[in-house]
Amino acid sequence: MSKPLRKVVFPVAGLGTRFLPATKVVAKEMLPVLDRPLIQYAVDEAVDAGADTLVFVTNRYKHAIADYFDKAYELEAKLQEKGKSDLLAMVQGTLPKHVRAIFVTQPEALGLGHAVLCAKPVVGDEPFGVILPDDLIWNAGRGALGQMAELSQAQGGAGVIAVEEVPHDETDKYGIVAATPVDERSAAIHHMVEKPKPADAPSNLAVVGRYVLPGRIFELLERTTPGAGGEIQLTDAIEALLKEQGKVLAYRFHGTRFDCGNKAGLVRATMHMAMQDPKLAAVVREFVATH
Ligand code: G1P
Repeated sequence: MSKPLRKVVFPVAGLGTRFLPATKVVAKEMLPVLDRPLIQYAVDEAVDAGADTLVFVTNRYKHAIADYFDKAYELEAKLQEKGKSDLLAMVQGTLPKHVRAIFVTQPEALGLGHAVLCAKPVVGDEPFGVILPDDLIWNAGRGALGQMAELSQAQGGAGVIAVEEVPHDETDKYGIVAATPVDERSAAIHHMVEKPKPADAPSNLAVVGRYVLPGRIFELLERTTPGAGGEIQLTDAIEALLKEQGKVLAYRFHGTRFDCGNKAGLVRATMHMAMQDPKLAAVVREFVATH
């Protein structure tokens, strides 16, 4: 059995231009779906997967993320004084006690691969997860990353990448894989390419923001030269890993993905979460019926 997954990296240094002007001051990962920011859904999924060390790759404009997971002394004291124990538990529960948050900076926006590489001094040579908080994945049972960590362990520590089918004309928004099915949910990847034009795409099976990777990926990232969009791409380093180790799996997770990197996705995620709550579900139904 390979090592369990303990560390998860969150690349959160992006600008969030699709949500300007709000993102002038609010980190896009702090945009809420109902009452919880996107980053909270991502952190909960990492903790569900067994992680106890969360590595946030951030920049100087993203202090709100560190503040959010920090202890809020004044607020906690006020809630305690007023006997509001439910709210207190909520405030203290953003990060469970056994979990630590580590912040590293990505001084320049050189791409997702570069952001992940910034976490190397903290992760070292062990398997780790990557969650892109823009991709909110909701599942009633085990979270997507937990499902992937289990598969990776069962497969001797193989890399596992979350995938889902996307419309053919959208391949240029994603990493695209060519893979041979192994079973109903997993497939052996033989080729991966970042943001190909629909005419050049090997399939319409797209990488979504969840990865389980071996520590070896860092050395491969160090050798990765700028690719699509002039950026150091994680996809290119995974392609190199594939050539070297021969085995990286694509995994169709149980759950629903919402692309909260754009407005339509954030609206969908909000409606979906509202529908899980009977009172809010009634509000949504009434609103839709009358508009
Ligand atoms: C990144 C990855 C891409 C992946 C996507 C999923 O792209 O580079 O391979 O398909 O996340 O959300 P980005 O959306 O950061 O451009």
